[in-house]
Amino acid sequence: MPAATAESSYDPTPCGPIGVFDSGVGGLSVLREIVTQLPYEDVLYIADQAHVPYGRRPLEEVRQFAFGITQYLLSKGVKIIVLACNTASAAALKSLRQTYPKIPFVGMEPAVKPAAESTQSGVVGVLATPATFQGELYASVIERFAQGVTVYQHTCPGLVQQIEQGDFDSPVSRKILEDALLPMLKSNIDTVVLGCTHYPFVIPLIQAIVGDQVRVIDPAPAVARQTHRLLAQRNLLRDSNLPGNLLFATSGRLDPLRKFLERIGFLSPTIYRVRWQKSRLIDVA
Ligand code: DGL
Repeated sequence: MPAATAESSYDPTPCGPIGVFDSGVGGLSVLREIVTQLPYEDVLYIADQAHVPYGRRPLEEVRQFAFGITQYLLSKGVKIIVLACNTASAAALKSLRQTYPKIPFVGMEPAVKPAAESTQSGVVGVLATPATFQGELYASVIERFAQGVTVYQHTCPGLVQQIEQGDFDSPVSRKILEDALLPMLKSNIDTVVLGCTHYPFVIPLIQAIVGDQVRVIDPAPAVARQTHRLLAQRNLLRDSNLPGNLLFATSGRLDPLRKFLERIGFLSPTIYRVRWQKSRLIDVA
């Protein structure tokens, strides 16, 4: 685990922004829920597009990225950090909480619990990255919540990259999803868990493949509710009735991110560039 830095003694305040990060645009599926549920909060979103996709990288490497981004967000005064990325949560959530005990962290885990509670057929499918499936977090979710339920998994190779390019419905994305979902349907799944934050952008395509009888679970609303709950518990909600400011940063290129944001309804977004200097993330002047 990386050594604790001066930020481990950091005290969050209500006027700080909410920090949110992902390897790329996936976490925007969580951000839009946060903005709906917490409209008066400022948010700083980091897309680590220099490194996307995270899902095929070793967990240790993803952990280093998550620590670098966390240190950057703390240097910007954030009051809570949302790991809007299942892969980063699998790699780093536990060690981030140990290293920064004063910072509230919200992580993602595949929503196997609600799936297991509501399935009628007793068979559910989970779509997530290879790294997420390898992590201890997923193993513990399965052990705790999937007793008596059959769980099929698929990594949907290439789908994150398609979504990064703004492809929500091309034949390429359809083929990736059909390869994942058609065998699961044959095995009688009635629930699909989206265990990667990129995938909510292709829910219409998923639903078209599996049909209306299959429930697709996007955990983003629950994650936004948990963010609200933690801020309220710690008296960190912003006392304002003016809409919060949204700020976006990418370690990749500005234009594709701008296009993506506009496509999903964030018009004229403020975006700036950051870059990696060894294991630190810094502003591009
Ligand atoms: N959106 C991320 C997740 O939830 C990461 C996908 C990737 O970069 O491979 O896992």
